[in-house]
Amino acid sequence: MLTSQVKFNLLTREQVMGALKSTGSKDPDVLLAAKEEFASNYRPLKWFGIWGMVCGVLMTMLIILAPLGIPLFFLGVWWFKRAKKNSLLIEQTFSEYCSTCHGENLISSGQIPDLRKLKATDRAKFETTVTNGKNQMPPWKGALNDAQIDSIWSYIRANAHEK
Ligand code: HEC
Repeated sequence: MLTSQVKFNLLTREQVMGALKSTGSKDPDVLLAAKEEFASNYRPLKWFGIWGMVCGVLMTMLIILAPLGIPLFFLGVWWFKRAKKNSLLIEQTFSEYCSTCHGENLISSGQIPDLRKLKATDRAKFETTVTNGKNQMPPWKGALNDAQIDSIWSYIRANAHEK
């Protein structure tokens, strides 16, 4: 069995010769076995080399990417906060303009249509109803701009029974 050690030194020809001579044999099989055993001590160094190069590249990339990573983190925080503000504004707009009749969180209490029943294909009907009103429902033309109407529609779609 070969018992290998890790050797870091740079070999000389004499050392290799010495290792072969130390067998005191001229039998090719013995010499071959001695050569193999001797060589096995010097092979692990190759893996140390690969490991060093890979780790070196990774560690260097950390430094190189840090200038990107730090602003990206703050950009992420900024996007996240913006998303929260937007969804809050949509909820507020709906509460302010629609929920008195259509119910808190879109949950209608009875007579008035439950907006969660609107289907994805009802977009045109939604816009017409909101802009021009319908019977008991007041028109919102002028009171709500396109972006507000758009965000209410997204809010309704997000909570719709049938997505
Ligand atoms: C004053 C009460 C009232 C308010 C406020 C109100 N609605 Fe209505 N809405 C109604 C009534 C009543 C109807 C049913 C009209 C009908 O079909 O006769 C209706 C119908 C609708 C419909 C048609 C639903 C369907 O299935 O036909 C949509 C869409 C709608 N409302 C959206 C909104 C949105 C969005 C808001 C907020 C911007 C809003 N409404 C605010 C009373 C209201």
